[in-house]
Amino acid sequence: MSDTLKIGNVEIARTAALAPMAGVADRAYRLMCKKYGAAYVVSEMVSAKGICYSDRKTAELCTVTDEERPMAIQLFGSEPEFMAEAVKIVLEYRPDIIDINMGCPVPKVVGTGAGSALMKDIKLAAAVTEAAVKAAGDTPVTVKIRSGWSRDSINATYLAWALEASGAAAITVHGRTRDMFYSGQSDNSVINAVKSAVSIPVIGNGDVTDLKTCREMYEQTGCDLVMIGRGSYGNPFLFREIEAGLSGTAYKSPSLEEKMQVMLEHIRLILELSEKCEELAMHEARKHAAWYMNGYYGSAKFRGRCYQLSSYAEAEALAQEFIELQRSREINLV
Ligand SMILES: Cc1cc2nc3c(=O)[nH]c(=O)nc-3n(C[C@H](O)[C@H](O)[C@H](O)COP(=O)(O)O)c2cc1C
Repeated sequence: MSDTLKIGNVEIARTAALAPMAGVADRAYRLMCKKYGAAYVVSEMVSAKGICYSDRKTAELCTVTDEERPMAIQLFGSEPEFMAEAVKIVLEYRPDIIDINMGCPVPKVVGTGAGSALMKDIKLAAAVTEAAVKAAGDTPVTVKIRSGWSRDSINATYLAWALEASGAAAITVHGRTRDMFYSGQSDNSVINAVKSAVSIPVIGNGDVTDLKTCREMYEQTGCDLVMIGRGSYGNPFLFREIEAGLSGTAYKSPSLEEKMQVMLEHIRLILELSEKCEELAMHEARKHAAWYMNGYYGSAKFRGRCYQLSSYAEAEALAQEFIELQRSREINLV
C-alpha cells in the first residue's frame, strides 16, 4: 500500500482525512485536527448560488490558511451555470481542491435539487460536475456522494461512473442512503463497489471512530483514503493515533490533563478566529467543550454545565473541576 495518494497534483498521506461538517468543522476545528495529524480537510459546505450573490459569509467560509493545506472548499448547488461561476469566485481563495456536495440529506438543501437530490438525477449531477471541472482549470474537482437516495435505489456505482466521465478527480462515498440521514449503519460494500468501478481515487466515509474501524474501512473497501466526521468530536488526537497505528509506530494516548489543555487551546482558537464578542463566541465553543469530556465519569452532568459557559475563565475553571472530579473518584476506587 502506497503511503500517499494523488488527487490531480495534490499529494495526500493515506492516513485519515477530516470530513466536511457544517456547523462543526470550522477553521478552528480544522486547524486542531490538522495539528493532530489529519491528512486532508474540507470546508463546511457553501452555497454556490449564495457565493454568486456575494453572500457576506463567503470569505469566512472559504478562507484557506496554509496550516490547513491540503484543503478543499466544498460547494453545493444544482445549477451548472451558478456552479461554474461559484468555482471561479472560490478559486481566488486558492483551495487545493474543489469538492461538490451530492450527499447532504437536509430538506432545505435537497428541496433546491442540490445535495443528495442530485443522486436522483445523474444527468444533472454530471452536468454540474462538468461545469465545475471546466471552470476550475488545473484545480481538481471532487464529488462527495452517498450510497443512493433510498435503500431501494442504491446507485453510487452508476453515479460514480458518470462523475468520472465528467472529469471528477476523486469521489468520496458515505455508505448511507439519503433516507437514513445519519442513523443505521454505513455500508462498506457500496464503497467497495464504487472502488471497483472507477479508476480515480475513492475516499471511504462512514462510522470510522478508531484505528480498528479505520483499518476495516481500508481493508473492506480497498479505498484510497479514509474520511472521518463525528468520530473526531472532542478527539482530534484520533488522526495521530491512526497515523501511528497504520505505520506501526508507538502511540501514547493523551492523559485527561492533556485533553483538557487541548480543549482550552481549541476554545482559545475559536475566540481568536471569531469576529463575535467573547460571550457569543463561547456559544460556539460549548458543544466542543462537552465533547472533550465525553466518556468520563460525570460527563453527562458536566455537559449541562458546558452548555452554560459564557467566558474562557469559566471554561478553565470547569476543566480544572472536571480533572479534580476524576482524581477524587480514582482515590475513592482505590
Ligand atoms: C454536523 C454535521 C454536518 C455535516 N455537514 C456536511 C457538509 O457540510 N458537507 C458534507 O458533504 N457532509 C456533511 N456532513 C456529513 C459528513 O461529512 C459525513 O459524511 C457523515 O457524518 C458520515 O461520516 P461519519 O460517520 O464519520 O460522521 C455532516 C455531518 C454532520 C454530522
